[in-house]
Amino acid sequence: MPAIAHTVHVALGERAYDILIGDRLLEDAGAILAERFPGRRFGIVTDATVAQTQLPRLQRSLDAAGLLHTPIIVPAGEGSKSWAQLQYVTEAILAARLERGDAVIALGGGVIGDLAGFAASIARRGMDLIQMPTSLLAQVDSSVGGKTGINSPHGKNLVGAFHQPRLVLADLSTLDTLAPRQFAAGYAEVVKYGLIDDEDFFFWLEANRAEIFGGGAARGEAIARCCRHKARVVIEDEREQGVRALLNLGHTFGHALEKDTGFGDRLLHGEGVAIGMVLAHAFSARLGLAPSQDTGRVQAHLQAAGLPTTLGDIAGGVGSTQTLMAAIAQDKKVSRGALTFILTRGIGQAFIERNVDPAAVAQFLDDMRG
Ligand code: GLY
Repeated sequence: MPAIAHTVHVALGERAYDILIGDRLLEDAGAILAERFPGRRFGIVTDATVAQTQLPRLQRSLDAAGLLHTPIIVPAGEGSKSWAQLQYVTEAILAARLERGDAVIALGGGVIGDLAGFAASIARRGMDLIQMPTSLLAQVDSSVGGKTGINSPHGKNLVGAFHQPRLVLADLSTLDTLAPRQFAAGYAEVVKYGLIDDEDFFFWLEANRAEIFGGGAARGEAIARCCRHKARVVIEDEREQGVRALLNLGHTFGHALEKDTGFGDRLLHGEGVAIGMVLAHAFSARLGLAPSQDTGRVQAHLQAAGLPTTLGDIAGGVGSTQTLMAAIAQDKKVSRGALTFILTRGIGQAFIERNVDPAAVAQFLDDMRG
């Protein structure tokens, strides 16, 4: 009997799928896939780190269920969201003679989900994708909703496709081996859901942070709540024509900072989002939209979780305001030159503002570097 603790259904019509959340689900993966995808073969895309820790568990489980599989391993890190690795993974799918009716498993964090998902969307004009997220960030955000893609020298996630998974299988035990810094970075995306439109969830996180980091029952509960939130948004606005943009809270500043620091170890995606969310609250307060004490409360919570929250927290510092503004202007949340930002009226009251004055943002960034 699989140890599924939470099931979240993403009701997208013919593209509907389940998110299964539970402890040690990788051990049940073979039985679950044999039942839901009988007769398929699987390409398992993963990175060199996850290949050491989680891949053998999945392979044993698939072997026990009599399912055929081929591993496809790329280097760990954001650098793998590249044209070169997209080509490598796509060619490896073809070399393994996986057919259109077979499936690609993304076993790993957000980088692997985005890369494998994009490869699945183009190999043989589209193959089924199964997300098996092994990082907190991937379990609460990137494995759900169908956004896939790679980075370009022009910016983050600028090349990609919408390609919904057929199943998301989130094994909570994979988080036990996650580096603390990676866990904290994923936690920024957890906090994001509270800040968008769920003040109660933010307060619950303030009360339960220690248990979530410690691995208690609150961890699974937090992940399920995030997935339910994301599922609701994706069902309403799959292609980000409107409300889905709220999920980008903190991301416009965050992506600019990631680009500025070279998409690498100096600043993880979730760390950029943490700083970006504090900046979004501070900028909203500056515009007279939100109470400034909310900025302090958000910052205190993220700091307590071990996250950077200011430009000064970034190792090696950041480039000029001009450089950051150029990155912001190239971000895909820009429409015909006008800056779109997710601003807020306070904790749990984010909204989309499509007409933000670039000069005001530049002045704000100047002031923020102290
Ligand atoms: N990570 C934002 C989204 O999926 O829309």
